[in-house]
Amino acid sequence: MESSSTYLDASAKIFIIDDSYYNLDFLSIILSDSGYEVVAEIDSEIAFEKIISCQPDLIILDVIMPKINGFELCKIINLEPLTKNIPIIFTTSLSDTDQKVKGLNLGAVDYITKPFQKEEILARIQVHLRIRQLNLELEKQKQKLEQRVQTRTAELSQTLENLKQTQLQLVQSEKISLLGQLVAGVAHEVNNPIGFIATNLYHAKNYVEDLVDLVQLYQQHFPQPGAVIDSQIEEMDLEHVLKDLPKLVNSMKLGTDSVRGIMQSLRSFSRADGDEKKAADIHQGLETTLMILQHRLKPQPNRAAIQVIKKYAQLPLVKCYSGQLNQVFMNLLANAIDALEDSFMSSKKERKNLQIHIGTSLEQERVIIQIVDNGMGIPKTTQNEIFKPFFTTKPEGKGTGLGLPICQQIIREQHGGSLECISFPGKGTEFLISIPL
Ligand SMILES: Nc1ncnc2c1ncn2[C@@H]1O[C@H](COP(=O)(O)OP(=O)(O)O)[C@@H](O)[C@H]1O
Ligand SMILES: [Mg+2]
Repeated sequence: MESSSTYLDASAKIFIIDDSYYNLDFLSIILSDSGYEVVAEIDSEIAFEKIISCQPDLIILDVIMPKINGFELCKIINLEPLTKNIPIIFTTSLSDTDQKVKGLNLGAVDYITKPFQKEEILARIQVHLRIRQLNLELEKQKQKLEQRVQTRTAELSQTLENLKQTQLQLVQSEKISLLGQLVAGVAHEVNNPIGFIATNLYHAKNYVEDLVDLVQLYQQHFPQPGAVIDSQIEEMDLEHVLKDLPKLVNSMKLGTDSVRGIMQSLRSFSRADGDEKKAADIHQGLETTLMILQHRLKPQPNRAAIQVIKKYAQLPLVKCYSGQLNQVFMNLLANAIDALEDSFMSSKKERKNLQIHIGTSLEQERVIIQIVDNGMGIPKTTQNEIFKPFFTTKPEGKGTGLGLPICQQIIREQHGGSLECISFPGKGTEFLISIPL
């Protein structure tokens, strides 16, 4: 510390206030002779201002003075932040114990007694300058330490924040992968029996057609089969059965085809991404996601259906982690549905045109995917918050606040793209995904 050596070199600045010229001179001379810089003031009324401006290292203060006495001045100096740490030494007459005690109680660090003893004065001043120097050094160290603690705390909170993020991503991807395994397992289990039914239906269809032909042949060649058969024909409404049976088999076939399609989508949706990006069809990802969300789009007992309007451009296959992109579509679409439901409820169930627009386009080597809803929008004050982890406006159990930060992480870090939100409170919200090809 530079200033510390200055004090020890005895070039510290000492401010003396005394209403006697004799005392002022005496003190000034012995202090100057010892190498101190001295400022002397006889008028206690203007002393305070001067102390503030010259910032001495020590103050020697006479107790009994006209206008403002030493005690009052001491109080004033101790109240002012700029001066309260400057040590004050009182000068008082030898016998006056009361004054000594009162001065020390008011915050003075010491007293020197009149008549002055040169050696004693110098010794005491030196002690207090050294204490002050140590105090200043301590204060500096304390500030350094505080600074360090602050830096460390900031570093630690940043680490904690990163850890939280990583953890939530781990939890989320663990969940997704578990869900993927579950879906893949179910799809696998359903696939076998459905394949079995589909194959048998194919044969059953042929057999039914043959049998229908055969019955018709019988009818042609034996138009009078007898009363028993006639009554059976009438009872079972043979004409209707012959017409309906092939239709029935056909619709069974449509049913199994549709189940197989759904299983196919589920498997592709839940397929683990692996380490490498693969060329994928963005539209297929969107369609599969919509299919999985189908039940939420349908009219509900307490709300109208949500209409999905698609505007797909011609897109090339995109090298990506398709499972992760599906996760993004899923969250953005689920958020849009939530927003539409909220807006429906807050319109007192008056709203009818609940819509989600999904658009894709190709712009300068980038694939753009827009997901727009005409829900209640996001208030200006929270638009900055929505990408922060754990920010949610949904009730516990429904919202986690993890969807958007994870979407952003997937789009930005994994795909080098961007995810932006443009929202008009009361009108709706648009999420814009942009991925470089
Ligand atoms: N389409 C949207 N319309 C209105 N608000 C939205 C929309 N998407 C997201 N938000 C707001 O952003 C918040 C955070 O979304 P998200 O990170 O997916 O978490 P969560 O859905 O679990 O709340 C939501 O709680 C909601 O307030
Ligand atoms: Mg969400």
